[in-house]
Amino acid sequence: MKVAVPRETREGERRVALTPDCVKRLTAKGIEVSVESRAGEPAGFPNAEYEAAGAVIEKDRARLLRAAQVVCLVQLPDPAEIEMLPEGSVLVGLLAPYAHLEELRSLAARSITAFSLELLPRITRAQSMDALSSMSTIAGYRSVLVAATALPKMFPMLMTAAGTVRPAKVLVLGAGVAGLQAIATARRLGAVVEAYDIRAAAKEQVESLGARFVEDPELAEDAEDAGGYAREQSDEAQARQRRLLGAHLAEADVVICTALVPGKRAPLLVDQEQVRLMRPGTVVIDLAADQGGNCALSRPGEVVMERGVEIHGPSNVPSSIPFHASQLYARNLLNYVLHLAPEAELKIDLDDELTAGPLITHAGRITNEALAAEAQAP
Ligand code: NAI
Repeated sequence: MKVAVPRETREGERRVALTPDCVKRLTAKGIEVSVESRAGEPAGFPNAEYEAAGAVIEKDRARLLRAAQVVCLVQLPDPAEIEMLPEGSVLVGLLAPYAHLEELRSLAARSITAFSLELLPRITRAQSMDALSSMSTIAGYRSVLVAATALPKMFPMLMTAAGTVRPAKVLVLGAGVAGLQAIATARRLGAVVEAYDIRAAAKEQVESLGARFVEDPELAEDAEDAGGYAREQSDEAQARQRRLLGAHLAEADVVICTALVPGKRAPLLVDQEQVRLMRPGTVVIDLAADQGGNCALSRPGEVVMERGVEIHGPSNVPSSIPFHASQLYARNLLNYVLHLAPEAELKIDLDDELTAGPLITHAGRITNEALAAEAQAP
């Protein structure tokens, strides 16, 4: 089996799909790995480390792509490069297929078997391959550092000869993977932290990190499903949530937004009026901005100022910590490739939910029904 690791070419992307330690795991199994020259450099992994791990360094990108059997990526290449991939080859990455319908059609037209790791079912067997959780861990951590830098205050309580500095107040909305990491990071920096979620199980996790859980006495019992996942809330329920959060928002120095139900628009938890009630200098980091935002004023990839409140809607946060983002992502990807090829040869078993779930194109068609409908829509 031949694995190719191209350099990432999408703007701002600094991660690399496989790190040298993961390449070594593949070459030890007799799998040939070719890495495009300098592919790992932006993340801190030089060519020499890949060579030491048994990879061949390829300077010619077109030759790398044309010879690939399994292509490991972070993001999708553009349609012109998809044309270079051999028909029937396999592509694995965080392909964001809903945002790349043209590329999706190209993949199907070239009979490429493409797996998008965002679509992995969140089941126990998939935990070691769960790239979304890895990336959310990074984003939750980073969001607090960005907020701490932008805030005109310090985070910890300080007792000095010039008097006492009160600790910053951080409110985290959504206590899933990113939210819990944000809480832990804000606590480590010395902030007083509150967090809110509609899943009852989140309370214990929030409290175990030393934060206060914002109780919601009117929360509907069916706010979470039988599997323990949050359900999308109605518009009325979201309006009620905003009323509940109002006083907490007005008191906060930093608001980290991470609330999301997978596949849905992010719930609206902070409206324009609430932003107006915040003190100037408050910083909002809306990690859900790409999914519509928890804050009505956030814009993907932008920083918006509203009456002294700074609202960030960062895109691709993991790329800003490319070394560890690549390290975690590469391990997830490696585990997925080894799932597809346990004996160092590809065995695509469409009856396996770990294989079928992330599969988006195969044998000349778009296999994911929802995506196929999107791709056919005018
Ligand atoms: P997750 O699914 O682990 O956590 C989301 C949490 O939101 C869950 O605990 C859920 O119960 C909660 N939630 C859902 N509806 C809610 C509501 N109405 N009110 C309060 N809480 C509610 O998701 P994860 O992995 O932590 O990701 C969080 C967000 O961060 C997502 O929007 C994700 O796309 C985003 N993200 C953004 C990145 C970036 O670069 N901007 C990078 C990684 C993640």
